[in-house]
Amino acid sequence: MQRAPSAAAQKSPSWSFAMEPWRTLLVLAVAAAAAATPLIDQLAPGQEWPARSSVGQPGDSTKEEIKVEDVFSGSTNETAVEEVDEEAFAKAVITKEVDLTKDEITKVDYSGAQVWKIQTNKRSVVAVVGRLRRRNLVSTWGGNHTHMDILVKPNAVKNVTRAFKRENITYDVLIEDLQRRIDEENPPLDENELSLQDRRGHKMTWKQYHRLEDIHQFMDYLAKTYPSIISVNSIGKSHEGRDLKVLRISDGKPTNKAVWIDGGIHAREWISPATVTYFINQFAENFDVESDDVKNIDWYILPVVNPDGYEFTHLGDRLWRKNRKPQGTTRVCFGADLNRNFGYRWGGKGSSNNPCSDIYRGSRAFSEPETKAVSDFINNSAVNFTAYLTYHSYGQYILYPWGYDSVVPPDYQQLDIVGKDVARAIQQTGGSEYSVGSSSGLLYPAAGGSDDWAKAKGIKYTYTIELSDTGRYGFILPVSYIEPVARESLAGLRVLAAAVNKA
Ligand SMILES: *[C@@H]1O[C@H](CO)[C@@H](O)[C@H](O)[C@H]1NC(C)=O
Ligand SMILES: *[C@@H]1O[C@H](CO)[C@@H](O)[C@H](O)[C@H]1NC(C)=O
Ligand SMILES: *[C@@H]1O[C@H](CO)[C@@H](O)[C@H](O)[C@H]1NC(C)=O
Ligand SMILES: *[C@@H]1O[C@H](CO)[C@@H](O)[C@H](O)[C@H]1NC(C)=O
Ligand SMILES: *[C@@H]1O[C@H](CO)[C@@H](O)[C@H](O)[C@H]1NC(C)=O
Ligand SMILES: *[C@@H]1O[C@H](CO)[C@@H](O)[C@H](O)[C@H]1NC(C)=O
Ligand SMILES: [Zn+2]
Repeated sequence: MQRAPSAAAQKSPSWSFAMEPWRTLLVLAVAAAAAATPLIDQLAPGQEWPARSSVGQPGDSTKEEIKVEDVFSGSTNETAVEEVDEEAFAKAVITKEVDLTKDEITKVDYSGAQVWKIQTNKRSVVAVVGRLRRRNLVSTWGGNHTHMDILVKPNAVKNVTRAFKRENITYDVLIEDLQRRIDEENPPLDENELSLQDRRGHKMTWKQYHRLEDIHQFMDYLAKTYPSIISVNSIGKSHEGRDLKVLRISDGKPTNKAVWIDGGIHAREWISPATVTYFINQFAENFDVESDDVKNIDWYILPVVNPDGYEFTHLGDRLWRKNRKPQGTTRVCFGADLNRNFGYRWGGKGSSNNPCSDIYRGSRAFSEPETKAVSDFINNSAVNFTAYLTYHSYGQYILYPWGYDSVVPPDYQQLDIVGKDVARAIQQTGGSEYSVGSSSGLLYPAAGGSDDWAKAKGIKYTYTIELSDTGRYGFILPVSYIEPVARESLAGLRVLAAAVNKA
């Protein structure tokens, strides 16, 4: 396979979102044989490792030795991944272009898709799931060393059930009909809320998952309303030209420490921007009465690192994870996983070099404008950050480096102690139990994460926080969870602020 295109070959970002919304055409790759199957399968090339048969990959799946991280990543074997022939893959499908500027935006329909939780205690389980995954019957949602949540595609429920029965694999059905959950997740605000919204000066609530415009307008409103402590700056543009807006809260004391917080690296993790904007609102509206621990910190907060992906989850595919830049030589597939694109040990375990994979690492470290902007800002600013916190979902974990492999940094015991203090505060406030550990140790190795890069830069308290829940709703967390999740997370953040002040 040829390498991904050079920087010059990549389209320059369209500057004005307002003028040219969704200029990029969504290329729907429709598997020829699957013309009559549900839409979820038609979109598969954008999300999934192509089925073995369609790309003629060598290798007999029955003889393979499959590790858990292989199942999460498709494959960690560089050589094997290289042999995916994108051209052949593109020829094996009929491609259809859909213009998202038109009214008829086709939303991916997940009717009949299910989410199951399975125990991965036996090696055979991992091997079976790996095979089903490569046949495009399931995809992985989340998991740890003992459990895995998988999405079972609608037309595959029967066959996967049969395969699991045959192998004596037990499972719990977490979600019976994914589309129904999606439909119920984010209802419109009621009259009462809407009238409150009119009086507040911004549209943001924590009773709904809001579009990017509401989030940005909320940030601008705060900067205008509290100019002595709040400012907003765009640190760059996404591929499609949306602003990467960072809000700074600071009383300007030269002795202040600095903390970076971001959310929404992964598009579908809606609870993350919702939680991070909740922090902003609390600190902004109550700054005078905040604790010294909070006031002695300059907060830099980027609620949506991946605005293109975020908007796409509202308009096109609720389960989109990556950004939206066309990738690879054929550009049939969209998006790099921004949390595999950071430049420390980039390209290692738990990341893929297949542009169609959900964990595609990009053509090189910082190939994506969103990761480049964040890393340039943190690296080049005069600010000396003491903490880097990146909010994801789901699983309820507080994770510290390293992610690239099963090793820990020299000060990991301190990170562990503070992480457990944060977890305790969360538990005492809202009752949710968070597990604390290194990301490779607790979950699985994944190189190119933002946390590894931040830690390697020397930022002491670097954590990836996987918010609620533990799989009952997964990514499709109903809006009624926003306030409880955000409130307990804020309690955890206060504990972190105390540790930062002592650092
Ligand atoms: C990776 O795959 C190639 C080709 O299938 C094989 O020759 C090689 O032994 C594999 N390497 C590892 C570490 O599994
Ligand atoms: C792994 O996931 C399962 C199921 O969600 C959960 O019960 C368990 O506590 C998790 N393990 C750790 C170490 O967090
Ligand atoms: C399910 O299994 C049947 C029988 O083996 C097979 O014909 C069919 O193609 C399978 N369906 C899918 C979606 O793989
Ligand atoms: C599944 O369980 C049945 C009954 O206990 C047993 O006969 C069969 O060999 C098991 N199959 C596998 C693949 O373990
Ligand atoms: C990071 O910052 C340092 C010092 O400010 C600078 O020398 C270096 O070139 C920067 N690295 C990148 C990748 O921008
Ligand atoms: C940044 O902070 C660290 C520890 O808090 C300190 O060791 C380092 O000297 C500081 N660097 C600058 C440029 O202030
Ligand atoms: Zn994530």
